Amino acid sequence: MDINLHQRNAFEAETPLLALGVFEDEPLPDSAAALIEVDDFKGAWQQHIITHPRDSLPSQRLMLLGLGKQATATADNVRQFAAQAARKAHELRLASFSINLPIIANLSASLVAQALAEGAELGLYQYLAYKSELTDEQKHRVERLDVMIHDDGDVHIVQQGVALGQATANGVKLARDLANGPGNAVTPAHLGKTAQDLGTQFGFRVTVLDRDALEEQGFGGILAVGQGSAQQPRFIVMEHGSAAEDRPTICLVGKGITFDTGGISIKPAERMDDMKMDMGGAAAVFGAMHIVGALQLPLHIIGLVASAENMPSAAAYKPGDIITTLSGKTVEVLNTDAEGRIVLADALTYAQRYQPRAIVDLATLTGAIMVALGPHAIGMMGNNQELIDRLAAAGEAASERVWQLPLWDDYRDMIKSDIADLKNVGGRYGGAITAASFLSAFAGDYPWVHLDIAGTAWTDAPRRSDQIKGATGVGVRLLAQMLQTFVNNRNQS
Ligand code: BES
Ligand code: MN
Ligand code: ZN
Repeated sequence: MDINLHQRNAFEAETPLLALGVFEDEPLPDSAAALIEVDDFKGAWQQHIITHPRDSLPSQRLMLLGLGKQATATADNVRQFAAQAARKAHELRLASFSINLPIIANLSASLVAQALAEGAELGLYQYLAYKSELTDEQKHRVERLDVMIHDDGDVHIVQQGVALGQATANGVKLARDLANGPGNAVTPAHLGKTAQDLGTQFGFRVTVLDRDALEEQGFGGILAVGQGSAQQPRFIVMEHGSAAEDRPTICLVGKGITFDTGGISIKPAERMDDMKMDMGGAAAVFGAMHIVGALQLPLHIIGLVASAENMPSAAAYKPGDIITTLSGKTVEVLNTDAEGRIVLADALTYAQRYQPRAIVDLATLTGAIMVALGPHAIGMMGNNQELIDRLAAAGEAASERVWQLPLWDDYRDMIKSDIADLKNVGGRYGGAITAASFLSAFAGDYPWVHLDIAGTAWTDAPRRSDQIKGATGVGVRLLAQMLQTFVNNRNQS
């Protein structure tokens, strides 16, 4: 979608639809108040109303959307407001629509513009790759959004916010497309190809290790998980920039299980199809790398994806097997369905060779995190409180909220094996934490945070106007926001 800025009074816009955010308990602009029964519309959050101004305004339709109270309005309110407006434009099959950029006392114009662009783009997201015939509605494209900004607004600042928002939305869309893609198309090889394509597009150095290379280099974890499948596993490295004094090295690590049957410890049939999204962590890394490339962030960023398909077969790894991971540490496999931590073990070990300033891994790792936090928060554990706090703040800012769980040494005992260094399951309780505790053994002393997105990467009942059923692309906005904090630190020093 083209997003254009106009420094013009919104009420003078000739447009098929003008969307106007209205704060609760604040008077409506006269041009709007004249058109509606003011008592019917108080600007409560998500309240909306459409009027046809006829001759009183040049716009064909005026949509008022409640933003709630100004004092408590957030960028996320703006994001969802814009998504709602964009959806209305789509529903009405309009080629273009307009939004008046809200002015919110506590928020910078660039942040509001970013959220607005993200919301408008994501509100229009559809996944249609496998529809052989499209309905008129599905075919329809809203091609242009005109953003009206106040006379004394800074066009340049708003422009930057819009560009950031569009780049971010493109990253989220890539992540959603990958995680919505079926397991027979989105294979480890496909993820390898995705990395190569991003490399070509943005100039990343890309390495994709196939099974032979993994064997040569000792990736015992990824190989074990992938050995039961006809789809060969892959380990993927995407490198942007290079290390320098003022360019901290940051590793983003994604779990890329392209389908998780559970393996020999097989899952129940019911809802097993959802397990095509078990590469949601990898999808978030790809989405973030897309943003990194589009914005050419002045950082050294390494995207790492550990990818395999977890299948039961005559060749599959089995409960009781002991495998030697890339680190040299041995793991007793007590449940082949706890495969994510095994592939991530190799990826985290690999990350250490960059001596990174930060490692952040994302994984649809445990059902236990869904039990603990439900669909509203990403589970977070790590070994460095500064990095944890940074992610917590980024999560608030991006409205992809994370919640920290403890990672005390006490949990380590739960994953000690009698005969190997570690076992891959920790028993019935504290499942999200024992999984993280397992991972911590492979991150070394580097600042590391683990994000368990099992509860947030997928939705069957979207609660936000910038989401539809299926993959949410969660983690992309969070990572982009976190990376921005490293860029900002750099500018300050
Ligand atoms: N991919 C699953 C976790 C998952 C569950 C993600 C539901 C998204 C939705 C993971 O590989 C898994 O199977 N975890 C097991 C671990 C257990 C065997 C220790 C789980 O959580 O049940
Ligand atoms: Mn599993
Ligand atoms: Zn899994």
